[in-house]
Amino acid sequence: MTTIGFIGSGNIGSTLARLAVGAGHDVVLSNSRSPETLHNLIAELGPRARAATTAEAATVGDIVVVAVPIRAYRQVPAAPLRGKVVIDTLNYDPARQGRVPEIEAGDTPAPLLLQSHLAGSSVVKAFSTVFFKHLANLGRPAGAADRSAVPIAGDDPIAKKAVAALIDSLGYDTYDVGPLAESRRFAPGTPAQHAHLDPAGMFAAPGRPASADDLAKLLSA
Ligand SMILES: NC(=O)c1ccc[n+]([C@@H]2O[C@H](COP(=O)([O-])OP(=O)(O)OC[C@H]3O[C@@H](n4cnc5c(N)ncnc54)[C@H](OP(=O)(O)O)[C@@H]3O)[C@@H](O)[C@H]2O)c1
Repeated sequence: MTTIGFIGSGNIGSTLARLAVGAGHDVVLSNSRSPETLHNLIAELGPRARAATTAEAATVGDIVVVAVPIRAYRQVPAAPLRGKVVIDTLNYDPARQGRVPEIEAGDTPAPLLLQSHLAGSSVVKAFSTVFFKHLANLGRPAGAADRSAVPIAGDDPIAKKAVAALIDSLGYDTYDVGPLAESRRFAPGTPAQHAHLDPAGMFAAPGRPASADDLAKLLSA
């Protein structure tokens, strides 16, 4: 089993932590405040979970999930993540989350922002396309007819393999879109971004399964 560190334990981080604990992994969670403020979530998750500082979550995680608002990316601690596999869940949606000057200036494309900050890490974009409530609902055992896939992208094939194995354990297939820059194909505003949204676009609905074949069609649309 894997220890998964979390930098950011809000909607998406806590949902992934629940799936991970359910799959038998250990999780170490952190947020922008202090470990004490995660008391309720840790109590809910049980003995496989503990709270820590961001630096400790980064240090102890075999794989580390970054699930913070994109504008906070510079606060993700780079040194303890050097040499590690990092899952990047971040979306750039300036209308809702505010502008990031280095993206707006064209210095760094949004898909590469976290990797450029974590130059010594192997960053794999994943889970950026699934609304957290749908992510909680759509996991299925391997081989289930209605198992969903999530798109992933990254520059390190070994890191992508490790992330795909983790995602499989959480109840999802993966669809490898290619290098990290190609994650632009499932960024906000693309058809693939909302692969698991019901046709009426209702976030309140349970979410719909989307297979790797479904993703392939959306990604080429
Ligand atoms: N919500 C979704 O369904 C969804 C789906 C796909 C991708 N995403 C992406 O996932 C990321 C997180 O979204 P979310 O909805 O989970 O946000 P959220 O509910 O607001 O949670 C954000 C988390 O990040 C923490 N955080 C903020 N600044 C931090 C810092 N400097 N250092 C450490 N932790 C920090 C927050 O801690 P505090 O509580 O202490 O502030 C909180 O735990 C975003 O980039 C979003 O685009 C979200």
